[in-house]
Amino acid sequence: METTDTASAPRGLRGIVAADTVVGDVRGLEGFYHYHQYSAVELAEHLSLEEVWFLLVEGHLPAAAERAAFAAEVDAARALPAAVTGLLPALATTARRPLDAYRAALGLVAAQDGFRPSMDLTAAERRADAIRLVAVTPVLLAALHRAAVGARPVPWPAGAGWAAAYLHAVTGAEPAPGHARAVEQYLISTIDHGMNASTFTARVVVSTGADLASAVIAAVGALSGPRHGGAPSRALDLLDEIDAATGNDPAGTEAAVDRIVGARLAAGERIMGFGHAVYRTEDPRSRLLRAVALDVGGARADRAVIVERRVLELLARHRPGRVLPTNVELFAGVVMEACGIPRSMFTPTFASSRTIGWCAHALEQAAEGSMIRPAARYTGPPVEPLGRVLVA
Ligand code: COA
Repeated sequence: METTDTASAPRGLRGIVAADTVVGDVRGLEGFYHYHQYSAVELAEHLSLEEVWFLLVEGHLPAAAERAAFAAEVDAARALPAAVTGLLPALATTARRPLDAYRAALGLVAAQDGFRPSMDLTAAERRADAIRLVAVTPVLLAALHRAAVGARPVPWPAGAGWAAAYLHAVTGAEPAPGHARAVEQYLISTIDHGMNASTFTARVVVSTGADLASAVIAAVGALSGPRHGGAPSRALDLLDEIDAATGNDPAGTEAAVDRIVGARLAAGERIMGFGHAVYRTEDPRSRLLRAVALDVGGARADRAVIVERRVLELLARHRPGRVLPTNVELFAGVVMEACGIPRSMFTPTFASSRTIGWCAHALEQAAEGSMIRPAARYTGPPVEPLGRVLVA
């Protein structure tokens, strides 16, 4: 430890307040989260993604004139620099994962745009950088995906809402309105979620005075881990395994869960799509997305509900006294699959909406102006004179 008066923090900094924020909060015991003063679930149920994005930028819901002005501002910010567009195929085919290509591409956009350290910018300039980063993200992700799978590029459809345009640009086909709305609700529900690892990362980076693109790129790295945002396709892999074992027969689902999940738990493995660092009751995002999945329809959603119920029973038996709820990932995967988003794009799609939250926190941290710099406790051998070692 660097100073003797520094209190030591719990493992993983659990429960430590690292910032004051007006962006939102998560109430783990109540199963509730909000953006500014509004329930995130209600926002997802009633508003468009652009309206909620505006809320995260401005702190209030847009009036009609503000909505139109924001749409025009966002449209202008979606254009990719020509120099970057030309590099996307090489990035897409070189990178191992779409998020890796996206991080590299976003860095190039920021370089082309001439992003500067956040501490050298006015609040209005930082806001413009934040809008640019969010606006360009789904465009880059869709273009990189098309290039990675060798499909013809689809220009970002102007005038469509973000979710519909994204689905179109990723799949190459105009989406059914129900699918666009389902993806929009998913995107709204994942904009922000307290001081999670990637949001904290974004705040740490911008607290050094670095540019906002660096904060987002670092946050993407944190999000890529399976304990954070990298799990939705793994949750779906489990559903696949169970469906393969039963031949998609719902009647055999519970027995297959007992066998497959039971063996994993016995081996000390974690079941993807379950457990949460903060929720000790139902995750409100899983409640929302379960309803969205059932609304979009399909036998897969019905079977996922059976799997969920049985896994929750097994987890309760496995860890009595510890609530391990279904987290956002299980039904997020079911919704995205039903809407035609390929599995490789699940985490990138999550990243696209979370960029709104990262930027809101980064702007708040930049305005606050202090550098995040915790301490560490030294636990190595006692310090000894180097000379003694050299002589020996
Ligand atoms: N399956 C089985 N056991 C689980 C579990 C899961 N999904 N999640 C937690 N546990 C167990 C742990 O093994 C641990 O048991 P132990 O005390 O015997 O070691 C206990 O519950 C507490 O786990 P801990 O890692 O302290 O909880 P956490 O709050 O730090 O973990 C997650 C949160 C999300 C990292 C964790 O639940 C997890 O790994 N889930 C699976 C991955 C996933 O779905 N990620 C997406 C998150 S949105």
